[in-house]
Amino acid sequence: MLVLGIESSCDETAAAVVSGGKMRSNVIASQIKDHSKFGGVVPEIASRKHIEAINMVLREALANAQVELGEIEGIAVTRGPGLIGSLLIGLSAAKALAYALDIPMVGVNHLEGHIAASFLAENPPAFPFVALVVSGGHTNIYLAKNYHDFILLGQTRDDAAGEAFDKAAKLLNLGYPGGVVIDRLAKNGNPLAISFPRAMKDSTDFSFSGLKTSLLTMLKKRGRDFEESQLPDVVASYQEAIVDVLVEKTMRAAQENGIDRVVVCGGVAANGRLREKFTEAAKDGKIELFIPPIILCTDNAAMIAAIGEIMLKNGCRDALDLNAVSRWPLTT
Ligand code: KG4
Ligand code: ZN
Repeated sequence: MLVLGIESSCDETAAAVVSGGKMRSNVIASQIKDHSKFGGVVPEIASRKHIEAINMVLREALANAQVELGEIEGIAVTRGPGLIGSLLIGLSAAKALAYALDIPMVGVNHLEGHIAASFLAENPPAFPFVALVVSGGHTNIYLAKNYHDFILLGQTRDDAAGEAFDKAAKLLNLGYPGGVVIDRLAKNGNPLAISFPRAMKDSTDFSFSGLKTSLLTMLKKRGRDFEESQLPDVVASYQEAIVDVLVEKTMRAAQENGIDRVVVCGGVAANGRLREKFTEAAKDGKIELFIPPIILCTDNAAMIAAIGEIMLKNGCRDALDLNAVSRWPLTT
């Protein structure tokens, strides 16, 4: 089934074509430069930029897939969670296309989309598996029993891991978004140079706000303009504190639930050190690890089309009065 996916939940306008679980195209228009001078995503600007980009992105996704609009058989669109104004742009485009082409449309949960990025692989994970969804807004561990059938095993009590990266970058004047910059700088640093706290060690829940405070305290003590040469060590150690708890708690959750497959997804799953440490933790072969390629970890529409195709094939349909939702937990 030829499915067109549309994603606009935050600051990426994305469209993709997926068919038979294979990605045919994946186009992403990033708004990073429009938000970076504000140090974070400005919702009103995001909505406006989505409007400007959506038609071009849709056209490019079809062209790259070498597919005519009339050949599309179904539309999958992110319905939430995310910024309402942003979501509405993608949703309106999806409704217009579904109506004009007289084809079915389905609204997709963005978090389930992140997990579904792993379904696009040559060797996709079978159920059940444990999934770590780690992004700018979420840090959740799920037991995935089937499509739409999740048990929440752990979640953050305060900041998401991506937020911990972004807030540290802001404190260190490294720009936005922080995850990528810290990832790059940390490659030249010593992850053991500074001992940052690892909170809630024995729980499956996470807490990252203390880590951010501890960086702030350190900066105040050392003086904000500490030597440039120390920066790689600071960010490498900070990153290590985030990565350590993500890997440890996810692998433990799998073990405690007798599950031998782990999916790691969401924007933070693009992090080099996280990918390395998960790979290391799984090298004894007891756990089979699934981490999508970097381009499918950060926000994209191929992941939305991937789960959308499965839903549409199973007969899921949404009516044209479907509304966007800013909050939408995967579990009830
Ligand atoms: O999934 P995503 O693109 O959007 C949300 O659904 O939130 O995730 C964005 C988050 C941001 O916090 C960003 O800093 C983080 O993912 N991120 C990274 C890396 N690339 C993106 N964090 C660490 N290392 C990276 N390489
Ligand atoms: Zn996301």
